[in-house]
Formats: sequence, C-alpha cells, structure tokens
Amino acid sequence: MTFSEIPVPERIAVRAPQGDYAIYIGDKALKTLDALLQLHNLNGKAVIVTNQTIAPLYGEMLSALLGVPLIAVPDGEQYKTLESVRALYDKLLDHGIDRHGTVIALGGGVIGDLAGFAAATYLRGIAFVQAPTSLLAMVDASIGGKVGVDLPQGKNLVGAFKQPAFIVVDPTLLPTLPEAEWICGAAEIIKAGLLRDESLLDAALYQRDNKEFVKVLKRAIQIKVDYVQRDPYEQNIRAELNLGHTFAHAVEKVSGYTWRHGEAVGFGLVAAARLSRAMGLCDAALPERVEQLVGAIGLPTRCSFEPSAVRAAMRTDKKRHGQTLRFVLLRGIAQPEIREDVPEQAVLEVLESLRS
Ligand SMILES: NC(=O)c1ccc[n+]([C@@H]2O[C@H](COP(=O)([O-])OP(=O)(O)OC[C@H]3O[C@@H](n4cnc5c(N)ncnc54)[C@H](O)[C@@H]3O)[C@@H](O)[C@H]2O)c1
Ligand SMILES: [Zn+2]
Repeated sequence: MTFSEIPVPERIAVRAPQGDYAIYIGDKALKTLDALLQLHNLNGKAVIVTNQTIAPLYGEMLSALLGVPLIAVPDGEQYKTLESVRALYDKLLDHGIDRHGTVIALGGGVIGDLAGFAAATYLRGIAFVQAPTSLLAMVDASIGGKVGVDLPQGKNLVGAFKQPAFIVVDPTLLPTLPEAEWICGAAEIIKAGLLRDESLLDAALYQRDNKEFVKVLKRAIQIKVDYVQRDPYEQNIRAELNLGHTFAHAVEKVSGYTWRHGEAVGFGLVAAARLSRAMGLCDAALPERVEQLVGAIGLPTRCSFEPSAVRAAMRTDKKRHGQTLRFVLLRGIAQPEIREDVPEQAVLEVLESLRS
C-alpha cells in the first residue's frame, strides 16, 4: 500500500525528534484509517479510546469499520486523571494489547491527552494515533506531542512527550461539535493568526457553513506544525503559542474552571493586545481590532472577576519562569514579542479596563 492509493487529499509532514510523522487532512479521512494503519505498518492489535459522547456519533462506526474494540470513558475534563489512565491500562490488558499494539485516540483534546499518556507509558510506550474530533484538538491539542493528565492541584501537571504515528483530521466530523466548542477552537486559530497570518483574522471565516473552512484548518495546522518543529520541547519560540494564555489560565482558574479554555483564550487575547498597547508596543488600533474580532465570533471580551484575584492566579501558572511572569505581547499582527518585564500595575489596569 502506498500513500497515492489512499483517497485522502492532503498530507502535512511533521519533523519531530522522536520520529517524523504525518497529518492527513481531508473530508472522510477517518474512513481511510484502516488503510493508513497498514501504510504505517501498524499491524498489531489496536483499540480506539473515545468518550461516551463521541462513541455513538463516530466511535461505534469506526470500531466496526476497523474491527477493533472501543473503550469509552466518561466525557469531561474532570476525567483527565490518573484514575482514568489506570482504568485504561486495565482495559488494554483485558484486550491483550502488547508492545506491537496501537492506541487510537478519537475525541477532543481531553481524549488525546489521556489516551496519549496511556500509550506513552503502557509497556513503556506503544504506538499512538490521533483522530481529533474537536476543532481545538485538530488545530492545537493533537499536534506537538504533549500528552498528560490533571492532578487535583492543577491542570496538566503530569505528562510526557509522545509523538503520534500519524494524525488524521476529518472536517466532516465538525458539524456535530456544539457551537460553544466550535468558537473555542476558533479562539486558538485567531491566536495563530495574530502570531503568524493576518488572513485568519476575519470573523466570516468562522461561520459554520463556510465551505472554504478546510483552508483555514490547514493554515492553522501548518502554523502549529511550524512552531513545534522549530522548538519541539518548548524551550524557546514555542512559548509564543502562549499568546493570551497567561491571562487565560488565570481566568480559567479564578472561574473555578466554569469558563472553557477557549473562552478564556478569547478574553486573554483581548487582554494581551491591550497590554501590548499599554507597554507602548503598538497603537490602539490593534487591541480594538482584536476585541472586535473576538466579540464577533461570540467569545467573551470582558470578565467580572476581581483584577487582583486574576493577577494572583497568574503567580501559580505552570508556565511561569521563576519569579517573573512571562507575557507574549504583540508589536503588530505577526510580530509577537516575549516579555518578562511587565509591571504588575499595567496588568491590573488592563484587567480593570476589561471588567464587566
Ligand atoms: N496536548 C496539547 O498540546 C494540548 C493543547 C491544547 C489543549 N489541550 C487539552 O485539550 C483539552 C481541551 O480539548 P477540547 O477543547 O477538544 O475539549 P474536549 O476534549 O473536552 O471536547 C470538548 C467537548 O466537545 C465534545 N466533542 C468533541 N468532538 C465532537 C464532535 N465532533 N461532535 C460532538 N461533540 C464533540 C466532547 O465530547 C466534549 O464534550 C484540555 O484538556 C487541554 O488541556 C492539550
Ligand atoms: Zn490554548
């Protein structure tokens, strides 16, 4: 079997230290998964790991198509835990998965992170395939090899780098994604646009009936791929992907995780743009444009939390660097700059200006 015999329109190659891999993108790409597994010589026993929402939508179909068992965990970030990993190990053993086996993660970022961590650690690591179903997982979570779980003390505190054998992105799975999750994925694409590509900064692109959306998807995937290839272990430039995230992680935390990550990122992008202006890096047009776009997509541009509480939550961010807080700011579109010299007062003033 060669790639040309597989009816998937496009392949993006990813260079990674643990081995190069490919992202296959195209309508109905999931239906070619059997052929892709063969192409990659993944001939051992496989299992699909999904959640109880995705199982009836796509999991059962895929399980029948491939003739492999389906493991469905409950839906939700609260199940991205070591307890769930432990339960997965039991299922993998029950299904007789050995060192030649493959874990196929079918779901959003929660499933990718959880199943990927199980695949990275079970028998010291077995093959792993990502079949992302949410927009956020397609453009962000499935790419870059970071897998892991949450602890009661914080999100993503335990993890590993585990590159997939390949990723298969099928845009025909997106229509069933709830609107609130769709705009969360859009938030990460807008972030990518602010970092690298102005053409992604148009609210009309994110309408659900956009026939050209696959182009947006490919562009956003390519941007994330470029970052992770240049900095696979997040030692330098990959940190730019945290644009808006110093604010976002703090807001998520202060909200008691009632705000979705993407919602917090929408707000965080507005705040980062305002902070860039306050630091004298750009003029007022940039934050105005970001706020207009984030609002037009339906993401929050304001929050009601006490600025001092949000600022305090930043101090415990996993991504902080020693005692200094690190912000990704913008000199303009596609001109990010990492700064560790932002005065606390400037952060508080930005938060106050965005208080609802
Ligand atoms: N590893 C990384 O580099 C990385 C990067 C970003 C985010 N993440 C992680 O990803 C997670 C967030 O991912 P997410 O936003 O995909 O959340 P998620 O996995 O919880 O999915 C969101 C919701 O959408 C549902 N869903 C997904 N696809 C669907 C579809 N096609 N049709 C209907 N419903 C569907 C899910 O069941 C869930 O209820 C977080 O745990 C975050 O930490 C990881
Ligand atoms: Zn994010």
